[in-house]
Amino acid sequence: MTEKVVEPVIRIDHRGPLHGTVRVPGAKNSVLKLMAATVLADGEFNLVNVPEIVDVDIMADLLRSIGSQVDTGSDGSLRITHSGELSTSVPADLAGRMRASINLLGPLVSRVGKIEIALPGGDDFGLRPIDMHVAGLEAMGATCTFSDGVLTVNAPRLVGADIRFSFPSVGATENLVTAAVCADGVTTIDGAAREPEVADLCRFLVAMGAQIEGIGESTLRITGVPHGTLHSVSHRVVPDRIQAATYIASVAVAGGEVDMIDAQRNDMQMFLHRCTEMGLVFTDLDGIGVRATAPERLRSVDVQTLPYPGVATDYKPLVIAMLSVADGSAVVTENLYPGRFRYVDELQALGANIKMHEHHAEITGVQRLSGASVIAHDIRAGAALVVAGLAADGVTTISGVGHIDRGYDDLVGRLREIGVGISRG
Ligand code: UD1
Repeated sequence: MTEKVVEPVIRIDHRGPLHGTVRVPGAKNSVLKLMAATVLADGEFNLVNVPEIVDVDIMADLLRSIGSQVDTGSDGSLRITHSGELSTSVPADLAGRMRASINLLGPLVSRVGKIEIALPGGDDFGLRPIDMHVAGLEAMGATCTFSDGVLTVNAPRLVGADIRFSFPSVGATENLVTAAVCADGVTTIDGAAREPEVADLCRFLVAMGAQIEGIGESTLRITGVPHGTLHSVSHRVVPDRIQAATYIASVAVAGGEVDMIDAQRNDMQMFLHRCTEMGLVFTDLDGIGVRATAPERLRSVDVQTLPYPGVATDYKPLVIAMLSVADGSAVVTENLYPGRFRYVDELQALGANIKMHEHHAEITGVQRLSGASVIAHDIRAGAALVVAGLAADGVTTISGVGHIDRGYDDLVGRLREIGVGISRG
């Protein structure tokens, strides 16, 4: 008889304010790109502040599948060693499991001149094209073809190019920077993404020996260096601003005061500004983190998502969960992924008053939500349901927990530490 696999669920039964300290782990959206970029040089890389999340395991398997050695330490460290030949073919089953698999494109094309990769999977929030990645590589001399869902890129030699983005794509910026670091000549990227995770990748590349000017700005200038001059490094992954925001949203709806060690105020200014307008108070903790203090009740504030330094689309589900119990009505507008509202049905099942008008959500706050069984469809939606569960009377049960595990390092354990009535079973 085959054993029945029981899907994990998160169960929340909570009342009362939160108190205590939570440490913010390293950023998923940085560490995956750093891991991919290690293929640019031989030697032993050491990454620290690595979050324990499923997507890191998938990227580790992807790297092993092309010939890298990846060893996980027990202390949030990761050792990646490259010594010699790497395969140019990325297994489709692994690539399809995660959007960030596409981040192997730039480094691997640069290193071995060729890659065959299935188009990426990842969060289920609509079409996520890679035309900008492809156009940029072609401008640098690569030949790109698609067949049966597989992208093949050939580039025996990459040459510097002037690239102008019509939209600051995070993934395309990262792929083209990593492709450019060893290209012949100078590459400029105008309209580049400025996210803290992009800057973290650029700093990592510079530590490896790359020449990049304009880090954190919208024009990047990369002067190619020979591959042999790049070397392995040790690097601390930038803290995860979206995980920090999840703890802020939790205290916002439950009340109380939480210290977030390693939270980087500078990386989340616009989000914190909106939260301040909602009534939260933030205090610096002498350079080691940020304290969030909740108001008696949140106020409603309109929010729209924009590329960095605007309010990131990844914060939006959390913001909508917060507004579900705020005083008044507000409109949240999604400008990056029009389809990224799948969790609204689930929030409504918990009693949230949300009306959808195309890519705008109009939320009228209620005093309390009410517990129900709901499903997480992607990472951030899952986190938003956890936050909503904290604002609900009765028991909230969340399935689809595998999505949350892709991006959150022990969310349940960390929330329990600050007093949340939450368990996993
Ligand atoms: C990254 C993050 C994701 C975040 C997003 C925006 C990772 C693994 N994921 O995703 O969590 O929500 O940034 O901050 O870091 N686009 C095109 N053509 C392209 C590339 C992008 O049309 O070639 C469009 C996308 O469909 C989307 C928008 O541009 O509508 C943003 O995409 P992009 O900034 O590239 O996001 P990702 O790197 O995929």
